[in-house]
Amino acid sequence: MSEITIQTPDDWHLHFRDNDMLLETVPATARCFQRAIVMPNLVPPITTAEMAVKYQQRILAARPQGSSFEPLMTIYLTNSTSEADIEAAKSAGVVAAKLYPAGATTNSDAAVTNLAAMTPVFEKMEELGLLLLVHGEVTEQHIDIFDREKVFIEQNLSNIVTRHPNLKVVFEHITTADAADFVLESSDKVAATITPQHLMLNRNDLLVGGIRPHNYCLPVLKRQTHQQRLLDVVQSGSAKFFLGTDSAPHEKHRKESACGCAGCYSAWSAIELYTQVFDELNVLDKLEAFASHHGADFYGLPRNNGTITLVKEDWQVPAQIKLPGGDDIVPFYAGKTVHWKVKG
Ligand code: DOR
Ligand code: ZN
Repeated sequence: MSEITIQTPDDWHLHFRDNDMLLETVPATARCFQRAIVMPNLVPPITTAEMAVKYQQRILAARPQGSSFEPLMTIYLTNSTSEADIEAAKSAGVVAAKLYPAGATTNSDAAVTNLAAMTPVFEKMEELGLLLLVHGEVTEQHIDIFDREKVFIEQNLSNIVTRHPNLKVVFEHITTADAADFVLESSDKVAATITPQHLMLNRNDLLVGGIRPHNYCLPVLKRQTHQQRLLDVVQSGSAKFFLGTDSAPHEKHRKESACGCAGCYSAWSAIELYTQVFDELNVLDKLEAFASHHGADFYGLPRNNGTITLVKEDWQVPAQIKLPGGDDIVPFYAGKTVHWKVKG
């Protein structure tokens, strides 16, 4: 096959950042996605309905002329999130709340330190139909970074889904066979997003032959057997797994640093790279469901009306991109050849 047309896809997990950066990130996503779930880990984090609505307006203002792209908003759970905050979020059209264990990743210092105390908040979300989006890693110093997702399942996530059987939970950007199996074994209220980098790369791509900061994200890339399990579940076509790029820009100097930031800015090539992965797996026929159906169905939102077409054609991801403020960003897959391209 050299061309494929699919219903317009959505990105169920990304980071747009704020202010000037929106002029880069919003058009890059709106070029092919109709909707995106926008992460709330700004500084300060988006913790209330009011903040989410204002942030949504800033995103809408950064859309290219004529774009009908729709940002879907989330709030950031903290130790002081109340049931009233959840009610206000629901009324304002916020679709989900994000759980970051404190210290787990970029801008997560304000996040939850005591999961047990969140029970009333989770109950309110369950009642109102707000989804729980989870960054699934423990943060205890003594737990090895490669084990943090697995330990989070054992210590936290299994309890959350057992105690809240009607809460819809998205296990975000899964990286391990343990996470894939957990999702498969859980009820139909539990699903997961998978990024392009976790399908295409493993920890060798981060560490062999030198440290490659632009492949550094959290949860960190795992060993090849875990990558293979993620490929297996997308190849299976299971409706529990869907597209979430975790596109997460950081300026070049913050990535190429003695202590580099976590995040891959994949918006420039994400849909093309997913297409390439599905092509290599010989399951291009399953791309549309992964990219355009499973997420919308899980969120209880309508599928999109339009279509996009991808053609099998080589192109190169730019080596770097100039930001409106003058800084540079090195996009994910910079300088490499991608074999699929969005038409038009
Ligand atoms: O690599 C990541 N970058 N993982 C996250 O969970 C957060 C994100 C960011 O905001 O930069
Ligand atoms: Zn993320």
